[in-house]
Amino acid sequence: VGVIALGGAGTVAYLWSSAKLDTAGKVDFDNPLAIPPLAESADDPSGARVFHLDIKAGTTALKDGAETATWGINGNFLGPTIRAKRGEEIAFSVYNGLDEGTSIHWHGMHLPAVMDGGPHQEMEPGGDWTPQWTLNQPAATLWYHPHPHGRTAHHVYKGLAGMFIIDDEESEALPLPSTYGVDDVPLIVQDRNFNGDNQFEDGGSFMSMQGILGDEIMVNGTLGPYFDVTTRLVRLRLLNGSVSRLYNFGFGDDRPFQLISTDGGLLPEAWETDRLQLSPGERAEIVVAFEPGETAVLRSHPAAEGYTGPLARVNGAEDLLDVCQFRAADALADETSVPEAMGAAPDVDPAEAAEERSFSLSGFSQINGEAMDLARIDFGVREGTVEVWEVTNADGYMHSFHVHDVQFRVLDVDGAEPPPQLLGWKDTVQLVPQRKYRLAMRFADYTDPNLPYMFHCHILAHEDSGMMGQFVVLGEGEEIGEVPAPAHAT
Ligand code: C2O
Ligand code: CU
Ligand code: CU
Repeated sequence: VGVIALGGAGTVAYLWSSAKLDTAGKVDFDNPLAIPPLAESADDPSGARVFHLDIKAGTTALKDGAETATWGINGNFLGPTIRAKRGEEIAFSVYNGLDEGTSIHWHGMHLPAVMDGGPHQEMEPGGDWTPQWTLNQPAATLWYHPHPHGRTAHHVYKGLAGMFIIDDEESEALPLPSTYGVDDVPLIVQDRNFNGDNQFEDGGSFMSMQGILGDEIMVNGTLGPYFDVTTRLVRLRLLNGSVSRLYNFGFGDDRPFQLISTDGGLLPEAWETDRLQLSPGERAEIVVAFEPGETAVLRSHPAAEGYTGPLARVNGAEDLLDVCQFRAADALADETSVPEAMGAAPDVDPAEAAEERSFSLSGFSQINGEAMDLARIDFGVREGTVEVWEVTNADGYMHSFHVHDVQFRVLDVDGAEPPPQLLGWKDTVQLVPQRKYRLAMRFADYTDPNLPYMFHCHILAHEDSGMMGQFVVLGEGEEIGEVPAPAHAT
């Protein structure tokens, strides 16, 4: 364990493991990768497709010996994959079987604030929640997780998270790999620490600069996972579902792969690379080619750039980690391809910006020098307008900036053209230390002067500590209102 003291007012010392972690070649890949089941649904009389989500506590056999106390949705750990198509009317009946309040937030979803599942939509223990909306955004890999005020890290770490896949007419017509669990595979990547009794160890460190860095990697809740490859091309839907850790994904043999989709949808064209960094909350779809009979290992490599000095330890940016093994069969089906043209480029024009705002993230509990206050609406945006947000990481370690309700376009990074992985639709962007990002977004459709959406750092310890703010979307002539008092104490 190392210690660093930050100077200035209220000097605090922070603790974290000071040793670089290197698990390359040291993980026994002897557990088949769990594939989250697809959530079942039923049509209700109104024509909406309804999904039931039961949140509960249980135990899960993750290691030899004692089972681990976990939380899950429709199961004991993690949640089912929700899959629906653009244009569908979808509804949920969510039940909170925990003995504390929680919520379910649809990360990346464009929807009314009252359906967003943030801290204003908490369910009490034994309570339920029935959001409903029409899916109206392009095919993408989103996810869902709790968002209770001050306790999001804890709830995600206990196991509450799942994928939410949106399809649309265009994506269904593409020749991309798309058979769920066969050549279209969700990879929810998370790190955990275990204590001697096989229980998740959070060390009480959620409220710190780093939160928590686990020294074991699990994918879809499987430690040491392997996946049996039966097709030449495999699409991997990567989700960094960790509370604090940065991943720099790449294969052990540095084989190239195609990035086809970012947070909010398919890229106009694939980008070939051998490394892809994802900060907490970000997703990416990649397509990888395998040769018959081979074995390949997906790893997380030390971060490429921007992380130097002792603070690089904070997000595990120097670690080299085994993530998942792929075992190709002796004969591979070969029926899919990566087409030349896929999605549409983000069409937000900064020249139309009605408003520009700046946000500076520093420390672990404030944006622009203010901590989150559930009763304070920080600003209102006008429905139908474009805004440009300049977001700066003023620190020597990572932040990860996420905005609810919208997908944004990254205009530039320190004034330069963004790297290829930031050219598509994004709802979460890694803030490399000391860099400035300009984002453009359009607010549309859903207005409510009283009920805010969140923007925050997706390092969940930071979010929980107050690195979050609230905005409302205002209709014409509307003024910022007042946040309704919570329906129940949490
Ligand atoms: Cu993924 Cu406000 O959250
Ligand atoms: Cu979100
Ligand atoms: Cu942060």
